[in-house]
Amino acid sequence: MLKVGVIGCGTMGQLHSAIFKKLPGVELAAVADLDDQRRQEAADALGVKTYREGQELIADPSIDLVDIAVPTDGHAGLLDQAIKADKHVFCEKPVVRTNAECDLLEKLAIQTGKRIGVGHVVRFAPEYVAARDKVLAGDIGRAAVSRTFRGGSQFPKGWQDWYADYARSGGVILDLAIHDIDYLRWCFGDVARVYAKTTQGLTEERMEHAFIVLRFKNGVIAHVEAGWTNYPGQFYTTLEISGSRGQLTFDTRTTAPILYAKADADKQEVNVALPESPALISPYEAELADMVAAVRENRDPKVTLAEALATTRVALAALESAETGKVVNL
Ligand SMILES: NC(=O)c1ccc[n+]([C@@H]2O[C@H](COP(=O)([O-])OP(=O)(O)OC[C@H]3O[C@@H](n4cnc5c(N)ncnc54)[C@H](O)[C@@H]3O)[C@@H](O)[C@H]2O)c1
Repeated sequence: MLKVGVIGCGTMGQLHSAIFKKLPGVELAAVADLDDQRRQEAADALGVKTYREGQELIADPSIDLVDIAVPTDGHAGLLDQAIKADKHVFCEKPVVRTNAECDLLEKLAIQTGKRIGVGHVVRFAPEYVAARDKVLAGDIGRAAVSRTFRGGSQFPKGWQDWYADYARSGGVILDLAIHDIDYLRWCFGDVARVYAKTTQGLTEERMEHAFIVLRFKNGVIAHVEAGWTNYPGQFYTTLEISGSRGQLTFDTRTTAPILYAKADADKQEVNVALPESPALISPYEAELADMVAAVRENRDPKVTLAEALATTRVALAALESAETGKVVNL
């Protein structure tokens, strides 16, 4: 039985805890949160041991795998402690906030024999996986251009309103666009050059929109768009990849998972609705199941620390470009 501790009982921490609670071969052993009320609510809902500081949970010798789901600026310190305490770690994206923290993590990673995975969940979204499979199979010929969009919903409000604090979150580029940057890196490899524009600091509070242009080393160019608006709206994502022999498109607004209600052969009564579409398997569940399997099978998780750091460096280059108005070469 793998014993897991989740640090942070906010949006992602609650989701991760609920998933670990039902994953086979896993015991959710403890959660930690600085906030007294959240800690109490988590204890009531989950019936597990609680700690206040993430550091206390890491010090618990019974915990095998530490899940870090605190605001982005808190990741590096907890990763440092968890790696030094010889724990397996799963950390939400972006894995760290700054290039200096990327350097630190690269050094720490060499010292651990444990597994470290990062929550770049788009690599587990069935439609995105299927699109990549088609690209790699050569179905659209030589890939040339890609466009992605992610956003449409309101500016997020986290604990202490940390998303609105650029120094803590890195804004919409580091928090949201990073998902597509990671996906495109997974499809096309290393990025050579980045240019970005963002409304951050230029428009009214609680609205941010960013446009990023990536040139990959293999010649592909991509346009990544992400936005948090200041009006209520529905979150959606789009993907377009064009090549020498075809094009792939996907838009979450025009697709819905298929539900299949099976009728009993004799009674002609509907028994139970069965999910027939892979879209009904939560990518969040799939990424945590992969992390647990990686520990058990003594293999790398699907999204390694090295991959997450490479993606984060591209997103940080986009931030630099948006700040300086210049193209950043990687
Ligand atoms: N993969 C995704 O789709 C996705 C979606 C949303 C957020 N995220 C990422 O997940 C992370 C968490 O975001 P969120 O929206 O869940 O945050 P949140 O604001 O909802 O919750 C954060 C919680 O962490 C707790 N916390 C902070 N520091 C702590 C510490 N040292 N010890 C114990 N508890 C501590 C706070 O009390 C708070 O309850 C961020 O890095 C964010 O970028 C990922």
